[in-house]
Amino acid sequence: MQLEHWGIEYFDLFLIHFPVSLQYVDPSHRYPAEWYGDDGKVHMERVPMHETWKAMEELVDDGLAKNIGLSNCQGSLILDVLQYAKYEPQVLQIELHPYLTQEPLTNLCKLWGIAVTAYSSFGPQSYLELGMGKTTPSLLQHSTIGAIASAHGKTPAQVLLRWATQRGIAVIPKSNDHGRLVSNLQCGGFDLTEEELAAISGLNMNYRLNDPVNIEPRLSIFA
Ligand SMILES: NC(=O)c1ccc[n+]([C@@H]2O[C@H](COP(=O)([O-])OP(=O)(O)OC[C@H]3O[C@@H](n4cnc5c(N)ncnc54)[C@H](OP(=O)(O)O)[C@@H]3O)[C@@H](O)[C@H]2O)c1
Repeated sequence: MQLEHWGIEYFDLFLIHFPVSLQYVDPSHRYPAEWYGDDGKVHMERVPMHETWKAMEELVDDGLAKNIGLSNCQGSLILDVLQYAKYEPQVLQIELHPYLTQEPLTNLCKLWGIAVTAYSSFGPQSYLELGMGKTTPSLLQHSTIGAIASAHGKTPAQVLLRWATQRGIAVIPKSNDHGRLVSNLQCGGFDLTEEELAAISGLNMNYRLNDPVNIEPRLSIFA
């Protein structure tokens, strides 16, 4: 169904979006299914990860996907999949930006040969309320990022992307603006110094934008 939707014969990479099993929704009824049932509630299904991973492996055997991977999974679940995988996960796609640097998880992936892809590379779109009347700017407005960008004659967005790619992490920024798409593609061709990389990583505050707990409290997968 998804291949037909895209008009292609196979996927280069197919991911389990979240390690959460939801009740099946027939695509003719609603596509994409998203999180909610017709009643506006989340309906979970009792399907363990090993069954889902086996189904993913069948996609490879049937020639529908060349590579398979995970998204939004933590270390313990990745280690679980590695126990029974016929085809090991090739990629882990996670939220990753200087406010959520995820070093333990990226280190684990490196050791197991799993490529990491970052989403939400620019972090929050506006300033953050930290409580007690304190705020912090968005990463695109942050003075540390701005100073490093000026030093290299680059934009803050290019610095944020290079901070990831220079550490071996793939990026997939999206934009509806042609100029920003082009400029995001031009995030190579310069290197940040070790001090600059460390200064950017030092902004970490484990701030997560995308957490299904905000959809349904029982889905606290990062707890
Ligand atoms: N696995 C998951 O659970 C998951 C979750 C979220 C996203 N993703 C995927 O990750 C990819 C990226 O999506 P995202 O949601 O993370 O968005 P993003 O790449 O972080 O982009 C967020 C916003 O930043 C703006 N932007 C882009 N380039 C910019 C630049 N150079 N300067 C200033 N602003 C810029 C864009 O607005 P304009 O359009 O106005 O430029 C865009 O709406 C998508 O393919 C998405 O499907 C995956």
